[in-house]
Amino acid sequence: MKIFMFKYYFAVFIVIVIYLLNIHIVPANKASAGEGGGDIIFSDTKKQRQVLFSHEGHQEAGNKCGDCHPQIFQQKKGSSDEGNALTMKSMRGGKFCGACHNGKDAFKVMSSCKKCHFVAR
Ligand code: HEC
Ligand code: HEC
Ligand code: HEC
Repeated sequence: MKIFMFKYYFAVFIVIVIYLLNIHIVPANKASAGEGGGDIIFSDTKKQRQVLFSHEGHQEAGNKCGDCHPQIFQQKKGSSDEGNALTMKSMRGGKFCGACHNGKDAFKVMSSCKKCHFVAR
């Protein structure tokens, strides 16, 4: 009986701690959201719709600036597609978006096209 009560209080304690942590974590995320690179539209997509990359969405998914900059992407709009390097083929090979969109860390680059290509011209 005593052990049961201890477990009960411990569970309540953990729930309260998680609740309190959230209160502090959420405003911190929101505060940094405005300091990222904003929304980026990729339009070199042939007949497909354009692609929207959301910095805010990626931060909310837990990515930090250093997960992408400067190894995968430079902090300069359009730099990845210099020399037409940003293609589905290069991403399938694990470059650019494909570094994470591999079906393990995030949805696969060759999954539903509409997940990325949804911005009308
Ligand atoms: C999941 C990957 C990812 C993360 C995480 C990320 N970025 Fe970016 N960032 C990009 C991509 C993609 C571009 C566009 C590169 C291109 O067009 O070739 C970009 C471009 C930028 C740019 C240039 C924007 C412009 O209009 O030229 C800035 C500034 C930037 N990022 C800052 C940040 C900061 C600050 C953070 C962290 C708060 C961050 N980024 C996190 C992927 C990321
Ligand atoms: C550092 C890893 C990383 C890179 C690089 C990356 N993503 Fe993501 N992306 C994620 C994660 C993690 C999620 C959330 C999990 C999921 O949806 O599978 C996500 C979610 C998304 C989503 C759905 C949610 C949202 O924010 O809109 C889109 C669309 C997306 N990514 C597009 C892209 C594009 C386009 C690129 C390249 C320009 C890119 N991502 C590069 C990790 C990454
Ligand atoms: C993870 C996000 C993502 C997904 C999913 C995705 N794409 Fe893309 N796609 C991109 C990005 C980013 C570009 C580069 C656009 C640019 O350079 O401006 C691109 C470019 C393209 C291009 C032009 C360049 C090339 O490789 O010929 C075509 C065509 C294309 N995508 C087709 C597709 C098709 C078909 C699917 C579904 C099977 C798909 N894409 C799924 C992000 C994605």
